[in-house]
Amino acid sequence: MYKHKVLITEDQIIRRVEELALELNKQYGEKTLDVVCVLKGATIFMADLIRKLNMPVRTHFVQVSTYGTGSESSGTVSLHFSTVADLLDRDVILLEDILDTGITLDYLLKHLKEKKPRSIQVCVLLDKPTKRKVNLQPHFRGFEIPDEFVIGYGLDYQELGRNLRFIAALDPSEYKP
Ligand code: PRP
Repeated sequence: MYKHKVLITEDQIIRRVEELALELNKQYGEKTLDVVCVLKGATIFMADLIRKLNMPVRTHFVQVSTYGTGSESSGTVSLHFSTVADLLDRDVILLEDILDTGITLDYLLKHLKEKKPRSIQVCVLLDKPTKRKVNLQPHFRGFEIPDEFVIGYGLDYQELGRNLRFIAALDPSEYKP
């Protein structure tokens, strides 16, 4: 595995995900919720979060393509895959592992709003506000993190690291030439 240092422990994640679920349960009550998971990174977060929700939940999956790979987000996004059919008059949570530049969520919010949901809010596990390129704040947020390349709990570097039970900062020697 890559050289890394733990930023957020498994216990901290479990506790924070429970708190986020409490917030969602309080805000949405018994309303049915449509949760849209952004592949691939948010899958672990979604699996843990929705099992703590009390209301009926529908799940959907979307995946975007971004141009370029490596440790930096690129600026061009397009929809690659979606199971979303109908969101008309639904209450939607758009679920992400990390909000970085905001370009991905900005694109997806615009795309999903065209389906005319009753409401749509963003829930992210990690927020890296220093990297933001668009004006976007999450409605629900697990942790604010510094400008480090993070892996674990769904997040990868070159497709590895998603199965780590904690969130770790990748050692820069792993991705810097
Ligand atoms: C990551 C992450 C978010 C996006 C955030 O996805 O999971 O979807 O980047 O970056 P942004 O706010 O700068 O747009 P990635 O492209 O690595 O795909 P993955 O989830 O399949 O790993």
